[in-house]
Amino acid sequence: MQRLVYLACLIAFAAACDQQWPNGTDKALTWFPSCKSPVTFYKVTALDSKGKAEYPIKLTEPLIIQADLNNPNNQYDSPNLLSTVNLWSWGSSAGCQWTTVPTLNLLKDLDACTNGVPCPVKTGRQILPITLDFTKFQQIIKLLKNDNPYQMEMVLNDKKSKDQTCVIAQARCLTV
Ligand SMILES: *[C@@H]1O[C@H](CO)[C@@H](O)[C@H](O)[C@H]1NC(C)=O
Repeated sequence: MQRLVYLACLIAFAAACDQQWPNGTDKALTWFPSCKSPVTFYKVTALDSKGKAEYPIKLTEPLIIQADLNNPNNQYDSPNLLSTVNLWSWGSSAGCQWTTVPTLNLLKDLDACTNGVPCPVKTGRQILPITLDFTKFQQIIKLLKNDNPYQMEMVLNDKKSKDQTCVIAQARCLTV
């Protein structure tokens, strides 16, 4: 009996998320700045490793998050610019929410310039193609639900100027 109740709860929780594609991610990528920054973002698009627009996004190959942005104050360069990449999957037994994909903590405080950011990041308005490569984590990626919403965050910390820049992208992703 206890097991049955447990099972019923699990099903109720699973059914609690009736929103399969948050923020219209079934049709297009959505993005927003996720920290206070001197940098202004105008547009963020996802490209495959050959520079072609792609949707859904393949997490099984390196992808390019291309940002049209304005960097008003400081030029950023190695070794001061550090990058952290966070990844979340959508939905869980607890309902409609973003759940951290944990092992990707290995992508924390890396030298941004040798990990996907073309350096130096000069001042001014520019198109900055940032490469996100989850291929090192294929063992984890392939366990994630295919053709589902995922949320990615890129955090850039410049130790010299103390500037922080963050952007979140939410997108429909393929994991196989
Ligand atoms: C949808 O996007 C907005 C920003 O446009 C964000 O604040 C909100 O948290 C997003 N919803 C989810 C479920 O992530």
